Amino acid sequence: MGKRSLAVAAAGALCAGCAAFITPSLPRAAQRAGSRGLHMAVTKKDSYSITLLPGDGIGPEITTATVAAIQPFSKLFKMEFKEALIGGAAIDATGSPFPDATFEQIKASDSVLLSAIGGPKWDGNPREQRPETGLLAMRKGLGLFANLRPAKVVRQLLDASTLKPEIVDGVDIMVVRELTGDVYFGTPKGIETTESGERFGYNNMIYYEHEVERIARVAFDVARKRGKRVCSVDKANVLDVSQLWRDVVIRIQKDEYPDVELTHQYVDNAAMQLIRWPKQFDVMVTGNIFGDILSDEASMLVGSLGMLPSASVGNPSGPGVFEPCHGSAPDIAGQDKANPLAMILSAAMMLRYDLGRPEEADLLETAVDNVLDQGYATADIMRDGCKPVGCKEMGQRVAEALEKLL
Ligand SMILES: NC(=O)c1ccc[n+]([C@@H]2O[C@H](COP(=O)([O-])OP(=O)(O)OC[C@H]3O[C@@H](n4cnc5c(N)ncnc54)[C@H](O)[C@@H]3O)[C@@H](O)[C@H]2O)c1
Repeated sequence: MGKRSLAVAAAGALCAGCAAFITPSLPRAAQRAGSRGLHMAVTKKDSYSITLLPGDGIGPEITTATVAAIQPFSKLFKMEFKEALIGGAAIDATGSPFPDATFEQIKASDSVLLSAIGGPKWDGNPREQRPETGLLAMRKGLGLFANLRPAKVVRQLLDASTLKPEIVDGVDIMVVRELTGDVYFGTPKGIETTESGERFGYNNMIYYEHEVERIARVAFDVARKRGKRVCSVDKANVLDVSQLWRDVVIRIQKDEYPDVELTHQYVDNAAMQLIRWPKQFDVMVTGNIFGDILSDEASMLVGSLGMLPSASVGNPSGPGVFEPCHGSAPDIAGQDKANPLAMILSAAMMLRYDLGRPEEADLLETAVDNVLDQGYATADIMRDGCKPVGCKEMGQRVAEALEKLL
């Protein structure tokens, strides 16, 4: 039994989504009774072990800045950071983008903070030696079936959005994307040739009920901590797999989350509504391919890549992975120009969803907000009248702001 399952058993606090994952046969009434929300199976502890995956490009710089930013929490609890290799750095050192030693270390951790991987140096490698292959192997190995991508418009950066300020001001959306199923993983798939010599390609868009149930529970659990509204996005007017998706989401809401409002949108309409009136959304839940596209669209409402955190969670007996949405930015690597705030905000998600520390997550987000209010800005979010800072100083400024809040 994993450490988290033990903690769960001891606390008797299974969340609905987690319960479905560990014990699919658990009666629904028991799941409902034990529902404590996403990953809240993790009880607050005095000490946490956190694996840092600095990765490539700007990764090491933003990792150092993030660790500095959250250091003030050591007054409240212990954080033991241990670095491990992934991506291009891991290929250079070991020949593998996701070495066994990294996987073993991660499995023994409470949580994982990842920066970014990849770069031109490895672009020409065969697929098994590409940095992204390491990322996919990690997600699969850890059973991370849910991707959470917040799109929260930062008041101080309203002008950075390509949409009018009055449309984006106040936008606060959480896109919950299923990460391990759908047309990306369905079989059969392939490219074949007909007898007449014409080639054809195909993939299988497929969801099993249990896959929809568990992602729906994640979305409803997240909604309970926010505005208690979920919009499920599908294409049920055309696709059978979407009809199943919709039926299951409706059932889960009715049986287990009657306190959360559920609406539905077809994916084409959802794409339009995100631009037309984004403030209507609280939590959006959707499948892998629709989520891939909509989460990118939603994140662009915010306007700056350097401000977007994300979380991949799902397996209650192992850690989640928290990482910025941006890549390794090789064009500015090693120049102290990178914005570390997306990774710092990812650390806030880690505190909230993996470490049982939602109050501290709020404090860290407030500290970031206060630093932006004070006018500090890295080059990517520079506005008139702001004080330019580098990556390292931005981390220190957040630490100072956090210190004042503790
Ligand atoms: N999850 C990941 O690790 C991930 C995600 C996307 C891309 N990548 C990889 O990253 C590499 C570069 O990809 P890309 O250039 O398409 O995307 P990118 O996100 O790395 O960079 C796009 C642009 O945004 C800027 N930028 C990104 N993050 C920034 C930050 N924190 N602060 C300031 N500016 C920032 C970059 O300088 C660049 O101009 C590629 O190898 C790609 O495969 C990795």
